Amino acid sequence: MHLKILVTAGDGIGPEVTNEAVAVLKDVSAAHGLTLELDAKRIGGIAIVQDGTPLPKETLTAALDSDAVFLGAVGGNEFNSLPPDKRPEAGLLGLRAALGGFANLRPAFALKELAVNSPLRPEIIDGADILFVRELLGGLYFGQPREWNREKGEAWNTMRYTREEVARVARVAFQLAQKRRKKLTSVDKANVLEVSQLWRATVIEVAAEFPDVTLEHQYVDAMAMHIMNRPRDFDVVLTENLFGDILSDESGVITGSLGMLPSATIGGKVNLYEPIHGSAPDIAGKGLANPLGAILTGALILRHSGGLEAGAAAIETSVRKVLEQGFRTPDLARGNVQDFKVLSTKEMGAKVRETVKELLK
Ligand code: NAD
Ligand code: IPM
Ligand code: MN
Repeated sequence: MHLKILVTAGDGIGPEVTNEAVAVLKDVSAAHGLTLELDAKRIGGIAIVQDGTPLPKETLTAALDSDAVFLGAVGGNEFNSLPPDKRPEAGLLGLRAALGGFANLRPAFALKELAVNSPLRPEIIDGADILFVRELLGGLYFGQPREWNREKGEAWNTMRYTREEVARVARVAFQLAQKRRKKLTSVDKANVLEVSQLWRATVIEVAAEFPDVTLEHQYVDAMAMHIMNRPRDFDVVLTENLFGDILSDESGVITGSLGMLPSATIGGKVNLYEPIHGSAPDIAGKGLANPLGAILTGALILRHSGGLEAGAAAIETSVRKVLEQGFRTPDLARGNVQDFKVLSTKEMGAKVRETVKELLK
C-alpha cells in the first residue's frame, strides 16, 4: 500500500504539532508496510508572506494530486486587519472548497486518563464520546452576498443551504450513527431561522432511510448547555458549519484541552485532515503546544485514507498509554499538577513514538 500525503503545516503552532504527528505516522506506516510519499507546501500566513497569497497555485495543485492533505493550522495576529478574503483563513477555506469534502468529522471524547484534567467533574464526562458531523462547505462561511459596506456602515453575510447540501451531510451522519450507538442529534435554530427550518425538514426526510437510528433535534443555544451538563447522552451530533465550529471547540473541555481533538473531512475528491485547534499565537514557538490532537489526526489518516485500522489503533493506544504514565503538555497539567510529568511539544512527540515502537514490537 502506498499513500501520498501533502503536508500543509501552516502557521504558529501548526508546524510544531505537525512535525511530531508526521514522525509518528512515518514509524507506524513503516511498521505496517505502508509506504508514505510526503510532500510539503505552504498555506496561510506563511504563504501570504512568501508567495503573496494564502493559497498558492502550487499548493492547490499538489493537494488535488494527493490521497490526503494533512493541515496544521493557519492564522496570526499580524493579519487581523486584512479583509476575510485576503487572510490566512481564506487559504484554508479555499482549500476546503477545492477538495470538496463536506462532512467534517470531529470526535470529542473523554479519556479516563484525562478525567482529572477536565474542568468538568469526572462523573459528568466519564464515558462521553460524541462524534460531531459538521457541514463544512455551506452556511455563513460561503453564502453570498457578503460585504462590509463602509460608506453605509453596514455589513452582511448570508446563511444559505440547499436541500441537497443538507441531505448529503445528513446521510453521512446517519451512516456513522448506524455504526455507533444509533442516536443522532441534529442541531439548528429552527425557532428563528428559515435556513434551520429547511435543515430540520431535510434531516427528517433523510431519517426515513435510517429507521434504526433514533433522531432528536436540539436548538443550538440549549445544545451548548446540554453538552456541558450531560455529554454522555449524545452520540452523533449533526450540525451546520458555524454551529459545528463553536460546539466542537466547546467540547474540547470534555477532553481537557482543545489540543486533544482531531478531525477528518470526507465526501470530496481528497480527504482533508486537521486538528481542530488553531495556530495558537499565544504559545507559538515556545514548545508548549500539545501535539496529541495532530497525532490523533494522523490516526484518522490511516483509518480513513490508508485502510490501516491497526495502525490507527496503535497510535490511539499509544496516546492513552503516555497519558496513563502521567505525561502531560502544560495545557493538560490541571488538577493535581504534582502527579504529572510535564513535557514540551517535542518531548511529547518522542514519548508517543517510543510507546508506539514498544507496542509494535
Ligand atoms: P486557537 O485554537 O489557536 O487557540 C485557542 C486557545 O487554545 C489558545 O489559548 C491556545 O493557546 C490554546 N490551544 C490551541 N491549540 C492548542 C494546543 N495544541 N496545545 C495547547 N494549547 C492550545 O484559537 P484562536 O486563538 O481563537 O485563534 C488563533 C488563530 O488560529 C486565528 O488566526 C484563527 O483564525 C486560527 N485558527 C485556525 C484554525 C485552522 O487552521 N484549522 C483553527 C482555529 C483557529
Ligand atoms: C476550524 C477553524 C476554521 C473554521 C477557521 C480558521 C476558518 O476555526 O477549523 O475550526 O472556522 O472552520
Ligand atoms: Mn474552529
